[in-house]
Amino acid sequence: MQFSNLSNRLSRWQWAGLGSLFVIAFITLIQYPTATSRSDPISVSKNADKISGPVSKFHLLLPASGYHFRLCRALASAIALGYPVSVLNGWMKEGDLDASKTHLAKVRTVMQYLDSLPPSSDDDLVLMIDGYDVVFQIPPDVLIERYFDITKAASARLALRAGGNSTESLTGDEAPRQTILFGPEKVCYPVDWGRVGCWAVPQDIGIPRGAFGPDDGQLHHNLPRWLNSGTIMGPAKDMRLMFAATLDRIAQHYDPNHDFSDSDQMYMSDVWGVQEYARSMNELREYFHGEVDLNVAFPTYDVEKVLPNVTPDQKTEYHIGIDYRSGLFQTRAGSDHILEMLTYNETTEVNGTTTFATVSQNIPETPNFTPYKIYLPSNLASSIARILRLVEPAVGAIPNVTELRLETNVVTKNVYGLFHSTGGKDYIDKLWTQLWFFPYVRPLFEAMVPALQSGRAIAFADGRTWVPSHTLSTNSSVTEGVNATGAWADIDGGWLSWHELCGAFEAEVFDGYTPPMDD
Ligand SMILES: *[C@@H]1O[C@H](CO)[C@@H](O)[C@H](O)[C@H]1NC(C)=O
Ligand SMILES: *[C@@H]1O[C@H](CO)[C@@H](O)[C@H](O)[C@H]1NC(C)=O
Ligand SMILES: *[C@@H]1O[C@H](CO)[C@@H](O)[C@H](O)[C@H]1NC(C)=O
Ligand SMILES: *[C@@H]1O[C@H](CO)[C@@H](O)[C@H](O)[C@H]1NC(C)=O
Ligand SMILES: *[C@@H]1O[C@H](CO)[C@@H](O)[C@H](O)[C@H]1NC(C)=O
Ligand SMILES: *[C@@H]1O[C@H](CO)[C@@H](O)[C@H](O)[C@H]1NC(C)=O
Repeated sequence: MQFSNLSNRLSRWQWAGLGSLFVIAFITLIQYPTATSRSDPISVSKNADKISGPVSKFHLLLPASGYHFRLCRALASAIALGYPVSVLNGWMKEGDLDASKTHLAKVRTVMQYLDSLPPSSDDDLVLMIDGYDVVFQIPPDVLIERYFDITKAASARLALRAGGNSTESLTGDEAPRQTILFGPEKVCYPVDWGRVGCWAVPQDIGIPRGAFGPDDGQLHHNLPRWLNSGTIMGPAKDMRLMFAATLDRIAQHYDPNHDFSDSDQMYMSDVWGVQEYARSMNELREYFHGEVDLNVAFPTYDVEKVLPNVTPDQKTEYHIGIDYRSGLFQTRAGSDHILEMLTYNETTEVNGTTTFATVSQNIPETPNFTPYKIYLPSNLASSIARILRLVEPAVGAIPNVTELRLETNVVTKNVYGLFHSTGGKDYIDKLWTQLWFFPYVRPLFEAMVPALQSGRAIAFADGRTWVPSHTLSTNSSVTEGVNATGAWADIDGGWLSWHELCGAFEAEVFDGYTPPMDD
């Protein structure tokens, strides 16, 4: 571990990161219109006419306290790809709930939203994304499918770790299981290696050391082993318990003199750290029938580990996990070198015909490197093709999926779900016009309006049909085009029309104009 090297990089990154520390504020409980027309044909999903069985809602929350062109790009990417109509948490809120004053406002305002949901929503899925530095790349049906693939595989590994001989997910509230996914981070941030969220983290993340570059302690070569709290997805009930645990931790540990007392990520990653500590200790006690040597169990840096004070009856299991492979969430800090805009235009005969792209970058600096293939997942290819067909009447010739450029994590081989621009916004500002759907944003808005109005199903996954939690305002006098879209604000239960929210930023959204840097 070359600590000084890491610190140098960190300080630069911290500076850059300060700009990203935006946040949120409050949620007034209001009666949101909800999706009711469950039997409508689905235009954005392949399961067009077979809705049967259980129906669950998908909620999209964006903590955002005020106007910004990057918020409008986030909203536009959600609208263009057919995500549920967004809820802005903490819109124009003040004091403790003002995200521009404290990052903890995000925790409070999202908590209020989760508390407002009825028990019948416990199994709904909630996706929370920071409002000012995120854009979607893939459609919601594939995102939801990936969410279940990733969490089920992780729960199976946890079942094995817990000593069973089955890969069936363990049941029960206190059993180790994964239902909440956070974004990955390449360093523990805020940095304090004594903190439980820094040292008590899983050693084996399923990616070998050195995969991101020589194992030399430089930030960008690290494994993404830590938690980023800017993107979170999980069931409403589990999210509520996890946010409540975070608020408890804030109540117990808040120190106004601490440099990072306002970092929601610090408290959330410590809730996760305590969970991992307790999981590991339970496993270790199966082998060490006495005192466990923590420095062997958790080989980290030569700093004093601050042990969590876990009482025997304390709840520590919150089903939290990290999306290490960025199937859903790609953070930026330390990852520029492993992101490539790939065109999946080569074909091969594997399981029928499969399209792929070739990577010729030798990220791990392996001797005798050979270029390798990354395959385009067929569910992603068909989902993107369905969306492009929606704009065909308006734009005429549409491209084949094999002609698009899709930004890919070339280490984990994922066309990531969304991009979260931690550590500086220049990357996401350039990315916007490079995204595959950018040329079609305006026609996609027009094409999506009927589905967003009726609350048509978004996906079929986990044996359930997924409908949006929120539809467009039925109150609006405008029923077509960009002006029919918008978002729900928690400020007074009100509808924020696209024109009010983003009318001033249409050049930034539709034309790709980026104003001079204002990080
Ligand atoms: C392990 O597998 C055996 C044989 O399939 C089964 O009888 C036993 O109950 C299993 N044990 C656990 C802990 O799941
Ligand atoms: C595939 O895409 C790359 C990058 O755009 C391009 O250079 C190459 O010519 C394309 N190959 C084919 C077979 O179209
Ligand atoms: C081909 O099918 C096998 C078995 O279903 C699967 O494991 C593999 O990932 C597939 N390969 C590709 C390139 O799709
Ligand atoms: C897209 O390209 C693939 C590979 O060249 C081809 O098989 C497919 O028919 C094309 N699809 C369309 C809609 O043109
Ligand atoms: C949207 O509404 C605004 C304000 O009424 C208007 O100026 C603008 O032309 C409308 N845009 C479209 C595309 O209709
Ligand atoms: C609906 O319209 C009424 C009358 O214009 C207005 O008072 C109310 O705030 C609107 N509700 C929403 C949710 O926009």
